Amino acid sequence: MPEQQIERERWGTRLGLVLAMAGNAVGLGNFLRFPVQATQNGGGAFMIPYFCALLFLAVPLMWCEWAMGRLGGSRGHGTTPGIFAILWKHPLAKYLGVFGILFPLAVVFYYNYIESWTLAYSFFSVTGKYFGIATREGMGRFLADFQGLNSPWQVSLTAYVFFLITFAVNVWILSGGIAKGIERLANIGMPILFCLAVLLVVRVFTLGTPDPAMPERNVLNGLGFIWNPDFSQLANSKVWLAAAGQIFFTTSVGWGAIQCYASYLREKDDVVVTGLSTTMTNEFVEVILGGSIAIPIAFAFFGRDATMQIAQGGSFNLGFAAMPVVFQQLPIGKILGAMWFFLLFIAGITSSVALMQPLVAFLKDELGCAHKKAVAITAAITFIFAHVAIFGLKAGALDELDFWAGTFGVAMFALIESILFIWVFKPDNAWNEIEKGAQVKAPRIFYYVLKYITPVYLLVIFISWAFQQGPAMFFMEGVAPEHVGWRWAARLCIVGVFIFIAVLVAKSKKLKELETGAS
Ligand code: PHE
Repeated sequence: MPEQQIERERWGTRLGLVLAMAGNAVGLGNFLRFPVQATQNGGGAFMIPYFCALLFLAVPLMWCEWAMGRLGGSRGHGTTPGIFAILWKHPLAKYLGVFGILFPLAVVFYYNYIESWTLAYSFFSVTGKYFGIATREGMGRFLADFQGLNSPWQVSLTAYVFFLITFAVNVWILSGGIAKGIERLANIGMPILFCLAVLLVVRVFTLGTPDPAMPERNVLNGLGFIWNPDFSQLANSKVWLAAAGQIFFTTSVGWGAIQCYASYLREKDDVVVTGLSTTMTNEFVEVILGGSIAIPIAFAFFGRDATMQIAQGGSFNLGFAAMPVVFQQLPIGKILGAMWFFLLFIAGITSSVALMQPLVAFLKDELGCAHKKAVAITAAITFIFAHVAIFGLKAGALDELDFWAGTFGVAMFALIESILFIWVFKPDNAWNEIEKGAQVKAPRIFYYVLKYITPVYLLVIFISWAFQQGPAMFFMEGVAPEHVGWRWAARLCIVGVFIFIAVLVAKSKKLKELETGAS
């Protein structure tokens, strides 16, 4: 057993842990990304592959990640370089684990910036800044001006200031540590988030048919769009890929972030019930709450065709352009707008700290950094590279980061971890690890799902991404020549940070001990 028993941080309470894990998963993905993905991929057609991915990818992998994290944590290793080295005694293992720190970071480079827009827009709602701009096109221009897309700097002062504030709050939370920073944030933030979301859903459900002259534009049709199954698209592989992508993004599975949070569990803590309940909380927030706000509102006010157009027009149109137009038409619109954007902000911040914590944990666990120093290094790296997402926004730097880290990368990482945990560590060991301390045993059928279905499913998804979208992304098809530079900058960021972490991995004595140590 362990060389030395290191005193690591722990979650304070079980409820705090559940809220923190739910906060990790519930994010901008639930309220902004999900409605857009569902709409772009045909609503009811999307939901069938979506639930398949939930059942066959997210649930089994989530159990694996909780179990891996707890196992790693009990030996003093909270991130995947250490965890993989425990599972597989091979020099390569710890380098594969680098991805479990890199991909969350690459996403947080842009995630923090979007999160800062939500904070800005909650202020704009309260102060009525965008009130008077009655059309979606107008709101679209407002967004572009706010982002500074038309300025020579490519960023507006307002947007930059809100970014700085958001970033500072993130760093402040991280510097509080697990129980006093992240857990406390979740304890306060998550209940507020639930209340805001429920209030907004109630408001949406009572919208009925806003324009009696257009009876087909109503909330029920919006709900029907998501919930009426549409089998015609099931043969379309794009829908399956998009659904799997959304599941990875929203559940936070496949990144390394869940393992890190789970490493602060106690050795005998249950993972089966707790893990499942946080994942189901995420799904409730996504499909029930998230699915009942933006899409039905857009259907009721703009109708089906316009809603599809809004979703096709870009990821932020629905949340930042269409919704503000609607708020202006409703009584207490300023308050509703502020509620919507502040809800997004809470969802965002409880996730962005989860995206940064792996690097903090890695620096502490594997290199013995003091907490403050680990947070400072993480903050410096995140801050510097966030500028690529900020200044390269128009050029699509964000899309590059999102594709290589958040789509392609995550499928690859999930595949690697499932092979290591299930096949290299051996199926029975993996299963025992999951069931250790379980309050209720996981259904045995998942043993077989884990062994066969999940890895094959992942392999198919990964290969499809690599071959269907990889080449077009790689060769930047359709990208304007003046945008190529920023897109390369985004790629270099990913490669650069990979090398940086890999060098640290190579230097870590603790990781070396894991390889040679007898256990
Ligand atoms: N799940 C978060 C969301 O829905 C994003 C996230 C991914 C957070 C991976 C942590 C790790 O927005």
